[in-house]
Amino acid sequence: MKGILLAGGSGTRLHPMTLAASKQLLPVYDKPMVYYPLSTLMLAGIRDILVITTPADQESFVRLLGDGSRLGISISYAVQPKPEGIAQAFLIGRRFLAGSPCTLALGDNLVHGEGMGGLLAQAARRERGATVFAYQVRDPERYGVVWFDHEGRATDLREKPANPTSNWAVIGLYVYDGEVCDIAASIAPSPRGELEITDVNRIYLSRNELAVERLGRGYAWLDAGTPASLLAAATFVHTLQERQGLMIGCPEEVAFRMGFINAEVLAREAASLGSTELGAYLARIAREG
Ligand code: TTP
Repeated sequence: MKGILLAGGSGTRLHPMTLAASKQLLPVYDKPMVYYPLSTLMLAGIRDILVITTPADQESFVRLLGDGSRLGISISYAVQPKPEGIAQAFLIGRRFLAGSPCTLALGDNLVHGEGMGGLLAQAARRERGATVFAYQVRDPERYGVVWFDHEGRATDLREKPANPTSNWAVIGLYVYDGEVCDIAASIAPSPRGELEITDVNRIYLSRNELAVERLGRGYAWLDAGTPASLLAAATFVHTLQERQGLMIGCPEEVAFRMGFINAEVLAREAASLGSTELGAYLARIAREG
């Protein structure tokens, strides 16, 4: 399983913050936003990741993440010249994927909850089809929405429906089989001019090959695309970290816990973070295991 981290887009809803900076590099409390979806991909056991950015921002992402070797993973880069839709990730990433199954994570989505890595690993074990995750929200009209029948099977999917009768939104984390690039290549742009990931998911649904996992109360799904949701995400991370003393979205810790790096490498990472709280936290984990 390979991973794609989609971190392009225009971030218009965060203007003027995103006029001169990438949305996915803005801080969510104590870390750049992209650390959260990167950690999620790593928790799923994925070690080969393509980061897609705007042409202008690529250099900053490379400066932040490098080639991934310090995390025991491989990170490569590609650009999306214009934000022409989430499904375009599979046209841009076609050569990188080379027919391999793929988990796609949106660079501004934060998913947190015990067992998420296991759910993703379980999805990865499905040989055919796609798995998406649904989450109940108060404002489903902002998202791709999924409908279920009485047995909990997905019956329909629509992108930003005007008056949805379902409040289950599809989150920005998708697991696909090796066919996804062909499927993405077969769809046409929507009226808003984007290659819609919902259209890709609808094709899997029409083939009876879409699994929709519902995430219950024990999970948090936040996107950080508006000023209010960016603040809510930061507050969430701050609150939980202060209470538990455990970090959310810390790729160095995930790398260590997943066995991608050993304690010695983690201690070096900790030292490079100097006297920050994160540095002290990682140093303690490196000592205690
Ligand atoms: P959106 O939040 O839908 O779009 P955006 O980031 O451009 O922001 P805004 O609506 O404020 O202008 O995108 C969701 C995620 O997907 C986000 O991480 C950006 C990414 N994305 C791309 O990288 N390329 C694209 O073409 C699109 C549509 C989104």
